[in-house]
Amino acid sequence: MSAVEIVMEGPVSGDCLLSLQMSAGLNNFRPFEKQQQALAVICGFDAGRVYVARSEKEIVGYVTFHRPDEYSRWHRHPRVLELGGVEVSPGWRGRGVGSGLLLHIFNDDCWEDYIVISTEYFRHWDTAGTGLDIWGYRKMLDGFFGRAGFMPVSTNDPDILEHPANVLMARVGSGVGWDDVMDFEEIATGRI
Ligand SMILES: CC(C)(COP(=O)(O)OP(=O)(O)OC[C@H]1O[C@@H](n2cnc3c(N)ncnc32)[C@H](O)[C@@H]1OP(=O)(O)O)[C@@H](O)C(=O)NCCC(=O)NCCS
Repeated sequence: MSAVEIVMEGPVSGDCLLSLQMSAGLNNFRPFEKQQQALAVICGFDAGRVYVARSEKEIVGYVTFHRPDEYSRWHRHPRVLELGGVEVSPGWRGRGVGSGLLLHIFNDDCWEDYIVISTEYFRHWDTAGTGLDIWGYRKMLDGFFGRAGFMPVSTNDPDILEHPANVLMARVGSGVGWDDVMDFEEIATGRI
């Protein structure tokens, strides 16, 4: 039997995304059919980007990016993009699909001009599916995002502070200037 080939690609267009089949296991954030529609909407946003890992025509994992919501504090910073969601279908987890997709994405120099944030809320974590407890899951995510250059960042964001396992992670591109990094830290800690 030949090895299954996983193709990693993006940013994909909404039409391309809808022409693929969503794995029926991609239900972490909402039912997979609705999530496919939501991903297609993100493709149409200004600065919206969706990357997929697919096996033939089946999407088995994805990562999304967008500009932060205009009412959030992060929107004030012109170089901040938000990693909105990452999910791999349960039957494909633990085989390097998620890590491979992140490394594929951040191999592109275009990210070096941006600060990419990821807000990690424990209520989104699939602890039941992995058998990990909240802290084990958090450790797994620290390694998962850490390999792609993300680090935990101090913040007074009340949504993050709501639970001690929640965390704000950020990847600061190598081309981001000192002033932009300072502004980001001030925004994160609520000083501006
Ligand atoms: C987080 C997620 C995207 C990782 O995808 P993946 O394809 O399994 O990732 P990888 O195979 O590259 O493995 C990443 C790490 O997860 C660990 N892992 C994967 N499946 C696991 C399982 N069932 N039990 C324990 N650890 C597991 C791997 O061992 C690896 O750990 P390491 O970094 O110490 O080597 C996937 O678990 C997922 O979709 N989870 C639900 C959604 C979610 O939690 N999104 C992120 C936060 S919002």
